[in-house]
Amino acid sequence: MRPIVVANRAPLVLEPADELLGRPERLVKGSGGLVTALSSLAAETDALWVAAARDEGDRNLAARGDPAHLRTADGTDYRVAFVQPGAEAYDLYYNVISNPLLWFIQHYLWDLAREPVVDASTRHAWRDGYVAVNRMFADRVIRETEASDRPPLVLIQDYQLYLVARMVRERVPEVKLQHFVHIPWPTPQYWKILPKPIRDEIVHGLLGNDIIGFQTSRDVRNFLLTCEENLGLGVDLRERTVYYQGRAVWVRHYPISIDIPSFAEQVVDPRVLDEERRIESWRPEKLILRVDRTDLSKNIVRGFLAYERMLETHTDLHRRVQFWAFLQPSRQDIGDYRSYLGSVLSVAARINRRFSAGGWTPIRVEVEENMHKAIAAYKCYDVLLVNPIYDGMNLVAKEGPLCNTRNGVLVLSENAGAHEEIGDFALTVNPFDVDETAEALLLGLVMDEPQKAARAEKMREVIRSNDVTRWIGNQLQDLRELIG
Ligand code: G6P
Repeated sequence: MRPIVVANRAPLVLEPADELLGRPERLVKGSGGLVTALSSLAAETDALWVAAARDEGDRNLAARGDPAHLRTADGTDYRVAFVQPGAEAYDLYYNVISNPLLWFIQHYLWDLAREPVVDASTRHAWRDGYVAVNRMFADRVIRETEASDRPPLVLIQDYQLYLVARMVRERVPEVKLQHFVHIPWPTPQYWKILPKPIRDEIVHGLLGNDIIGFQTSRDVRNFLLTCEENLGLGVDLRERTVYYQGRAVWVRHYPISIDIPSFAEQVVDPRVLDEERRIESWRPEKLILRVDRTDLSKNIVRGFLAYERMLETHTDLHRRVQFWAFLQPSRQDIGDYRSYLGSVLSVAARINRRFSAGGWTPIRVEVEENMHKAIAAYKCYDVLLVNPIYDGMNLVAKEGPLCNTRNGVLVLSENAGAHEEIGDFALTVNPFDVDETAEALLLGLVMDEPQKAARAEKMREVIRSNDVTRWIGNQLQDLRELIG
């Protein structure tokens, strides 16, 4: 079987040459949870990956063919078909509708007394951006399915592409379609931020699928309730099914995970070991770590405020601890994201001014995309802070504990999807409550060894037993069961 994976981002990016280091341009794996989870599936099944050409680098790759046959620097092959929306359409689709509008709704990030203001410009961005780009994706998928001798399996990903399934099914009714939503699905009421025609079009788009997958049981329930309350559709909450245009659409949750064997290799990669040696040369006795994209949903500022509270009351920890925020730049074309990164940096600087002494800097912020360094950091932390406001799953909460060698403690938001699986072995926090988070950070730093070891071992067991192959396997099994 050769599936078609449909996602906004291609699995790899063209990294420009670095003249300073004398390194030529090269293809490296893209970032974000979605790419992390799906690239091994795409490589193993020789899937066609349909993606948008997001920038000059992608357009260069698109020029290599349709599909382009691409090989990463470490030797993995991909076939990628790029759709190439015009700059304005892409901007409306990505920077206005997908981010921030849908992303903020699905992570409950709007400051509703003030934002968003929905008006003609929103409707314009919806039609000429989101709908138009979804149409381009659908057309490329239709072309592929029509050229294929068997009805192919189409695996659509995430909130940028809600309309694709319905568009494809209208043209190729026998196609098998599955859509996986990587981010939370909020309550029916919260969707009412959007005008009815837009929010209903999203749900109708998704119901073009045979199966709709989410990260957690909470998302499944919210989706079923949205169908029932906002659209008056017939749903069966126990069977997790929506009855729609003579079809039964299954709604299921499949907690996404990571590629365990690949991490086992990466933790001993010489480049990771190099980074680890570098960390050992500067790290203090105790290291608190966070690894995140610079996204508002990740709650980076409150993490610093919690740490500040801890330093206020525990002067004995001064000079012995450091909070390392290893951050990947994200969505910097969007004003809210730029100003958020500004707040992250200025709050860290303020806390550093307040407490720095004798060569000790309480917070170390690095904004850099470097997976080897991230893995080295995972190996060395004593406490890993994962405190998102809301998060679909959060793969850092799985990658960190899997790689860590010090039985480090995970401080985990109750609103991260990962909490449903590993919350019992972490220290749970309400992400808004900085006092509670401060206490959890402290508890993580002083927890006795046997307790740390027991928690870390159980957490690793759960993470290992739900490898990413199981995530995809369970989806394929359900597809076979539903449609034979
Ligand atoms: C999350 C989303 C993905 C997205 C990724 C990176 O993991 O679920 O759909 O690709 O973030 O964000 P970006 O906007 O840079 O692709």
